[in-house]
Amino acid sequence: MRFDAILFDLDGTLTASEEGITNSVRYAFEKMGVPSPDASVLRRFIGPPLVGAFMEFGGMTEEEARRATEYYRERFREIGWRENRVYVGIPEMLMALKAQGVRLAVASSKPQVFVEKILKHFGLAPFFESVAAVTMENTDADKSSLIRRAIPQGLDFSRACMVGDRCFDMEAAKKTGLYAVGAAYGYGSREELFSSGADAVANGVPELRDILLGGSMPRAKGRFVTFEGLDGCGKSTQLRKTQEYLTERGWETLVSREPGGCGISERVREILLDVGSEGMSAQCEALLYAAARAEHVRNVIEPALQAGKIVLCDRFLDSSIAYQGYGRELGEDFVRQINESAVHGLEPDRTFLFELPEETAKSRVLSGETAPDRLEAESMDFFARVRAGYQNIALRDMRRVMCVDAKRDIESVFQSVLTGIDQLLETM
Ligand code: TYD
Repeated sequence: MRFDAILFDLDGTLTASEEGITNSVRYAFEKMGVPSPDASVLRRFIGPPLVGAFMEFGGMTEEEARRATEYYRERFREIGWRENRVYVGIPEMLMALKAQGVRLAVASSKPQVFVEKILKHFGLAPFFESVAAVTMENTDADKSSLIRRAIPQGLDFSRACMVGDRCFDMEAAKKTGLYAVGAAYGYGSREELFSSGADAVANGVPELRDILLGGSMPRAKGRFVTFEGLDGCGKSTQLRKTQEYLTERGWETLVSREPGGCGISERVREILLDVGSEGMSAQCEALLYAAARAEHVRNVIEPALQAGKIVLCDRFLDSSIAYQGYGRELGEDFVRQINESAVHGLEPDRTFLFELPEETAKSRVLSGETAPDRLEAESMDFFARVRAGYQNIALRDMRRVMCVDAKRDIESVFQSVLTGIDQLLETM
């Protein structure tokens, strides 16, 4: 359907505003002398009116919540509003909609001054003919009344659409008779959007563009994400947290690992990691990793990607380049050559490289509960070469490989991972 007018929510729909909002909420909790909730609770402040959110998620009375909101604004007004970015593809989409004569507006539960300032700062203001937001004095305005205000005069509501990332947007759209399109790349899950009445849900901006411009829905295709780094870098923990995050938001994931991931490859893994395989030649080792990969790619990774899943894999080709190419000094070219048919043309869409000095990595492995396997028992020189190998890979492929400082605590590392994951979801 072609719409005459489209209203957009701001946070989580046009811009990724998490950083500024959660930092300002944290600041408000500190000022109130209340311990700040953890990251997953902080994210729930994105979207709903703030006073209600402080009451619901912060256990405050209305009077306290109003004070907390004042503190929030104190920081948001100065710094928070700028800790924000426009989702990739949004300006191009808005331009295309305008070129088709669609009338565009913004309906947001943020104070009008902030909305206007953000739209102007990020170059989005010229696309919109009106902005309906709340006043500083009355922040509780319900979204349906904002929608009614945002719709251009005399327009048929049934030919208008509301795009938003939370249940509040979908519910208000339905209440006012608008078509409701959910932006699942924002801060609500697909379940939340569908169960609150979404007529369609876009996984990323490209899909949103197709829905709004009247094209057909693209076929879902998965994404391939790999987690790399020295033994002991914490990648497996981050992988698990990433899976939880994606599952919570309604994405279908598949978790796997290399060497391994399927029957035959897990058996090859046993041979490779068994300390009893001591003395194995570097060539044999490299070929076994490639053999396990050939099986894993065809039997596990490719089918999952074709089914539209997000595949999260603990290690892939980069491990062979770093460990066998650099660690064993077989050379990168040789390793790439023997892996060419194994990877079957597959390349990760995103790789997280968890960076850690080899000394720290090694001491983490040695302090673990299990005895080091054959690779983990290697010398410090070996790991120094592996690390240098990883750094070379990252330097050459900065678009794909995101380096993450793994010296920090689990939650801080995870926040960096989320930035990369959110960017990836935008492309779906
Ligand atoms: P990993 O699964 O990270 O070990 P763990 O489960 O004990 O944390 O990886 C197994 C080992 O295999 C690790 O030391 C790195 C090594 N490896 C290579 O040398 N080359 C490769 O291609 C792969 C995939 C792993």
